[in-house]
Amino acid sequence: MNTPENTAPWHPVARSADLRPGANIVAGFAEGQELALWRAADGTAQAWENRCPHRSVRFTLGQVIDNRLACAYHGWQYEAGSGQCASIPAHPAMQAPRNVCAKTFGTAEAAGMLWVNLSPEVPPVPDALGGAVPDGWHFCRTLTVRASAGTAREALARNGLAEGPAAPGWRGRLGGTETVALVLDAQPGLAFIHLWTEAAPGSAAMKALHAAARQLRTEIEALPQG
Ligand code: FES
Repeated sequence: MNTPENTAPWHPVARSADLRPGANIVAGFAEGQELALWRAADGTAQAWENRCPHRSVRFTLGQVIDNRLACAYHGWQYEAGSGQCASIPAHPAMQAPRNVCAKTFGTAEAAGMLWVNLSPEVPPVPDALGGAVPDGWHFCRTLTVRASAGTAREALARNGLAEGPAAPGWRGRLGGTETVALVLDAQPGLAFIHLWTEAAPGSAAMKALHAAARQLRTEIEALPQG
């Protein structure tokens, strides 16, 4: 999808259904930024730098307590939304330091995915995100490939998928099955491809897509890396 110049992209980092309110923390990546993805008890999705601002321990080791994320090391708790330190349980009488904040990023939920924008000034969520996956389609799998996102896109084009002019994602047939591929630039030399399809779970078409996805990964990782 073409984006206006100077507009930071929205990255498809995880499937929305993988984040349960007030429950789990999922590790994510976008453009080399390591993320802690979670959902507050009120349902709002959160994408934070995966480092506690106290002593840099990964937030993914911690736990969600209602609308807060609690670090695993010293237990400091940070508020959903602002990332502000809200409580230091070891010193309940002490005021939480106002200047200690987790680094937070903009999020959007559309087409069954959680999208993250790394820009400090989060741009408006484009309507096009909602059209990335047709209504009623099913999630197949996320393919992890040891290659750049550019190489992954190149391989999708070689396999006859075309980038949508109006919505993000690559659309076409993989293994004979109608598919949308959402490519995530995770890290240098690492890309994720989220595959969605019209095929029903457990169907022969879905199995064909799984087989084609494995073949696609082999093909991508064999390509020269730019
Ligand atoms: S490192 Fe997170 S609370 Fe100390």
